[in-house]
Amino acid sequence: MTESGRVVLRTDDLTTASYPLLTSLVVPRPIAWVSSVSADGIGNLAPHSFFTVVSTRPPMVAFTSVGSKDTLANVEATGEFVVNLASAPLLDQVNLSSAPYDEDTDEAVALDIAMAPSALVLPPRVAASPAAIECRLHQTLPLGDSVVVIGEVVAFSVDETAMVDGHPDMSHLQPLSRLGGDEWGHPPAVFHLTRPTSV
Ligand SMILES: Cc1cc2nc3c(=O)[nH]c(=O)nc-3n(C[C@H](O)[C@H](O)[C@H](O)COP(=O)(O)O)c2cc1C
Repeated sequence: MTESGRVVLRTDDLTTASYPLLTSLVVPRPIAWVSSVSADGIGNLAPHSFFTVVSTRPPMVAFTSVGSKDTLANVEATGEFVVNLASAPLLDQVNLSSAPYDEDTDEAVALDIAMAPSALVLPPRVAASPAAIECRLHQTLPLGDSVVVIGEVVAFSVDETAMVDGHPDMSHLQPLSRLGGDEWGHPPAVFHLTRPTSV
């Protein structure tokens, strides 16, 4: 339907494909490169771009599993996961880890991605990622065809070299982002702007 020069795609029209519209319009999305471990101790690593902060005190983050995946099953079984920052130099590994490996295959082993022990949780972190967010499961929330996984952050782990004046520094983190279709975003150009404190 066209209205006043705009294409309006109603979601009550069964021909509207919402997924490509959602992923093209909610952009850019940060990528949670989630490491987890199964109840049998098999490691798992997979990117999730439906990812955001959901609470600051206590600190909580959430990612969404579209359908049932190994990551979701592992987190439900063990209650722990790690969000590894998907840094630009790791692009190929991040992408390759999204392949449909079976549940008995550890993507990190298959792709020769070095892992390092986490500080507080069992799932290891990606050694070459400049930052990791260690989480314990707070809640899973089934919504439609998806499940939102909410984790309480128990530790932030950042490379010393990436900490500048006490903050993780963007030029060291070099975060990739996900756009629509097969599009990815480079680390963004950064500028500074003072936020208004009064009206
Ligand atoms: C950049 C990127 C972002 C992705 N984001 C998601 C996501 O948010 N949710 C999801 O369910 N799958 C997402 N996928 C697909 C999963 O990574 C893929 O289905 C993977 O095989 C799941 O692995 P697992 O079964 O080991 O958990 C994404 C893939 C890529 C490449």
